[in-house]
Amino acid sequence: MPDKLNLKWIKAASYEEMSKIAADLFMEQLHEKPESVLGMATGGTPEGFYKEMVARYNAGEISFVHTKSFNLDEYVGVDPKNVTSYHYYMDQNLFNHIDIKRENIHVPVGNTDDLATTALEYDAAIAAVGGIDMQLLGIGVNGHIGFNEPGTPFSLGTNVVELTESTREANKIYFDKLEDVPTHAITMGIDTIMKSKKIVLLISGASKQEAMNRLRSGEITEDFPASALHNHGDVTVIYTGVK
Ligand code: PGA
Repeated sequence: MPDKLNLKWIKAASYEEMSKIAADLFMEQLHEKPESVLGMATGGTPEGFYKEMVARYNAGEISFVHTKSFNLDEYVGVDPKNVTSYHYYMDQNLFNHIDIKRENIHVPVGNTDDLATTALEYDAAIAAVGGIDMQLLGIGVNGHIGFNEPGTPFSLGTNVVELTESTREANKIYFDKLEDVPTHAITMGIDTIMKSKKIVLLISGASKQEAMNRLRSGEITEDFPASALHNHGDVTVIYTGVK
């Protein structure tokens, strides 16, 4: 699909194919540079991607022993060991199954009293290792990337955000009830994400059609956070189940 701006679009025939194409890109990245810094994402969309990465690790095709990782976001007030935390999600889906060193794993800490300092230190830690080489992203039904909700200034680094009702509604499947979904999260900012050298955005399923349409329109606006990606020179969008 031609893009008026910078995005490269890849249409996948199925969810499995989307996951495999994304895994191919990350594998290529790790083969070129084993000490890559990877930006990781959570949610339903990348689960197949992580399965694929674990399968390739088990097949001896890939190693993470020199790799560093930084996750996009975490809920505020949730212990990393809690089953609803994104740290737990990453352990279950990827980290427990591969050879990445624990000290090279970074997920924002959401259960701290000093979130502002935690946020600043997160960006500093990313910068200290030379920045993220390849960042994985999903997209929210409202166009958020990470937890950067509509209206977020593109200039923000890692910060604390209040989640919108639509995001809490979308994520309540992971909780007993809506009231249990945290109201706040700590997230890499749009500026943090945009500093990644390469970005891979996964879009899957009909619930993302409106977000897909807006992204494809090419309009760049802070009301639609993912539109910042049009200003980045190396974004691959892999999509399936959306037109
Ligand atoms: P999902 O979340 O993969 O669970 O749809 C994506 C996102 O909110 O960024």
